Amino acid sequence: ELSPIDKAKFVAAKRAAEFVEDGMRVGLGTGSTAAWLVRCLGEMVREEGLKFRGVPTSTRTAELAREVGIEVVSLDEARWLDLTIDGADEFDAELNLIKGGGGALLQEKIVATASDQLLVIADAAKEVEHLGAFPLPVEVIPFGWPTTQALIEETLVAMDVMGRGATLRMTGDRPFITDEGNHILDLHLGRIGNARQLAMVLNQIPGVVENGLFIDICDIVVIGYGDGRIEMRD
Ligand code: A5P
Repeated sequence: ELSPIDKAKFVAAKRAAEFVEDGMRVGLGTGSTAAWLVRCLGEMVREEGLKFRGVPTSTRTAELAREVGIEVVSLDEARWLDLTIDGADEFDAELNLIKGGGGALLQEKIVATASDQLLVIADAAKEVEHLGAFPLPVEVIPFGWPTTQALIEETLVAMDVMGRGATLRMTGDRPFITDEGNHILDLHLGRIGNARQLAMVLNQIPGVVENGLFIDICDIVVIGYGDGRIEMRD
């Protein structure tokens, strides 16, 4: 028996899996909700003979996809995708997102942008009126990261969204390392007034590789509830 939160993630993933058709190239997201999707798709491959190729957005997802029997290809090989299905940390009424809680935002954004459609699967708790309560992940190169952090904080002050500043994400007593060998700064903002502007400004700062704001990228959100209901937004 699944807990309500797992049930919510599972029903959203199961509904989203129905969007995958034979012959498609499909981006496979990262995180606990996306893991449900990968397992659903694996079952469809094994039991219904579904034939598609999956492009993972992290080494974690690549391993799981292979394990469940999905044919895995890299983005280099696939180039353009029909669809990407991924989780999110927050989504708003415009379907703008915060992603990167799992640290895979860079590959996730590249893969989502290479796709005709991004479908997000989320439990109802991810829906927000204003983005920003969830700390905004920003991927930075390790070289000079404290300088990059200071520049980001100056920028946040200038934009009046400083909140409690930026913290380096850790795994135990070491900095977290992304699949590309970078670090993550989590920006504790509270509320982002102009997410579109912030997303652009952050990416202008030397040392910043990418940020977790996904603006105008998501097409559909499938929301799962603990009682098994689903709802779609587009
Ligand atoms: C991974 O980097 C993130 O963008 C995930 O999509 C996000 O953290 C959602 O994860 P859960 O599905 O585990 O909540």
